[in-house]
Amino acid sequence: MKELSRIASAIAPSSTLAINALANQLRSEGVDVKNFGVGEPDFNTPDNIKEAGIRAIQENKTRYTPAAGVLALREAVCKKLKDEFGLDYEPSQIAIASGAKHNVYIAFAVLLNPGDEVILPAPYWVTYAEAIKMFGGVPVVVPTTEETEFKLTPDMLKAAITPRTKLLLLNNPSNPTGAVYTREELIALKDIIVENDIYVMSDEIYRALTYGVKFTSLATLGEDIKELTILINGVSKAYAMTGWRVGLAAANPTIAKLMSNYLSHSTGAPGTMCQYAAIEALNSPRDECEKMRDAFDERRRYFVDRVNRMEGVSCCEPKGAFYIFMNIKE
Ligand SMILES: Cc1ncc(COP(=O)(O)O)c(C=O)c1O
Repeated sequence: MKELSRIASAIAPSSTLAINALANQLRSEGVDVKNFGVGEPDFNTPDNIKEAGIRAIQENKTRYTPAAGVLALREAVCKKLKDEFGLDYEPSQIAIASGAKHNVYIAFAVLLNPGDEVILPAPYWVTYAEAIKMFGGVPVVVPTTEETEFKLTPDMLKAAITPRTKLLLLNNPSNPTGAVYTREELIALKDIIVENDIYVMSDEIYRALTYGVKFTSLATLGEDIKELTILINGVSKAYAMTGWRVGLAAANPTIAKLMSNYLSHSTGAPGTMCQYAAIEALNSPRDECEKMRDAFDERRRYFVDRVNRMEGVSCCEPKGAFYIFMNIKE
């Protein structure tokens, strides 16, 4: 048999999805399993959002949409970014894809040439490294430690930059550590990014889930950094919509256009009815999101307390997302 793609053959399958599949299998066999694998809210999608999806089907919103997403959704994204952060984006700067994971993938497709280095602070969400490799990119893993709450420091960033550096990956709030960067920390990183003229992917998918800290979106720190930022977000985590598969990227017009071109020859936009459900999500009051956030917060506080009272393990307090990164050194 002829050799299959070397790139595809070298890609590791998603370990979190594998853990999830195994947990589901054990559960179906009657085993009592607590699944701490995949990052998925256990809430149902709020009713108004589900109804918007159903309505879209009934109104025959079931045809192709523009590859980068239906205009009304891109407008809703722009409005959200403006209302929440004061960020100005045009709908032509927004690319809707089939989940934020897909946006991450498409963004790498657009940004990377073989051999380009991507600075990847560790620990990191498993998809990043594999997706970088899918386009011949080289993940430059920069380990962080509990001492800096697993955040990348300016010195770590400076030390990792080489002439081949194309992009920094910043996941804020972070999966899996729950770290949230302060405005001051982001400003310090921003200065280095701009000085070295590298791009930055700011994956802010957990932006709606922060606890007692103020969230700063990287692109708000100035036109220079906004120009270099590919902002990633989506509806999966904030609105309990993991299965609807709607994610978004906001970027400078050139990058957004290339993302749209790439989408036009690969998946096209997500399911039309899912896009309409996402419009409802973005336009709905924050009450349902807040209820879910409060529940995550309560669980977070329980876990942090409980884990830190266990012998041999500990964890620092996550300020965002819904993960606990345990120290099992002992
Ligand atoms: C950091 C991070 N980015 C992106 C995603 C992808 O989310 P989506 O469901 O929109 O593809 C996840 C999901 O686990 C994630 O943890």
